[in-house]
Amino acid sequence: MLIFRTKSDIQRHLNAFNSAENKIGFIPTMGALHQGHISLIDESVKRGLYTICSIFVNPTQFNDKRDLENYPRTLDSDIQLLEKSGCNAVFVPSVEEIYPSEDTRKFSFGNLDSLLEGKHRPGHFLGVAKVVSILFEIIKPDFAFFGSKDYQQVLVIKELTKQLNLPITIVPCSIIREKDGLAMSSRNTLLSETERKAASLIPELMKKVKEWKGRGLLISEIKQKIETELAKNPIYKLEYFEVCDKTTLFPLNELTPNIKPIALIACFVGKIRLIDNLEL
Ligand code: PAF
Repeated sequence: MLIFRTKSDIQRHLNAFNSAENKIGFIPTMGALHQGHISLIDESVKRGLYTICSIFVNPTQFNDKRDLENYPRTLDSDIQLLEKSGCNAVFVPSVEEIYPSEDTRKFSFGNLDSLLEGKHRPGHFLGVAKVVSILFEIIKPDFAFFGSKDYQQVLVIKELTKQLNLPITIVPCSIIREKDGLAMSSRNTLLSETERKAASLIPELMKKVKEWKGRGLLISEIKQKIETELAKNPIYKLEYFEVCDKTTLFPLNELTPNIKPIALIACFVGKIRLIDNLEL
């Protein structure tokens, strides 16, 4: 696997590349790689694409400085994991390489900016849009793969690609879960043993939502039950739980047959903020 640290090096490599014969599959990451990331690489490799991964902890998408400082950084083991996957090349730029000067661009994603993650992490999607557009510009992939745990991020990136008119197919991939159902996330490594055990309640509750919906409960009743369950243990701090329209993410007050619903949750377990979602 080739390792590139600068834009000019990876671009020189890609310029010599026969893009008519080889299509590029790209997996942008912030490192601390786990099986969820590897499943994205597998998806690209399975499609016969020249597979490039990037590892870059993007400072502009963190609205909390401490969160940025604490974000796990495990470059050596990431590279080992990538070597074993079918990844062809990895791009590991520095902050100066991606942002040689302040990126003052603005993007607007309508409701996506102000709902759920957009509301609770102001500026987060602006930072994601900045870095993803820069990485897309450098790598010029044909396909880019993203995990559906960050469901709203996938919608934002699809919208970004549309707004910038980029010829890139965005491929959302299924959430990969631990044995107890917890959605894989780089942040899971930051949980203490007690928090890790407690975290499994989140996917359990999401499963129950499906069951409650099946039993005909109203969305307001489902929300109430989620709040009650999480309030039983002070380790949890619910940030939001919503049932939304799958395509617009507009929160729903009632279920109607013509709208496909998705349940989304963000909840602190101790100091660690976890998110999950389930199509209903
Ligand atoms: O999902 C992530 O890990 C990040 O938001 C991304 C897409 C790599 C941008 O920094």
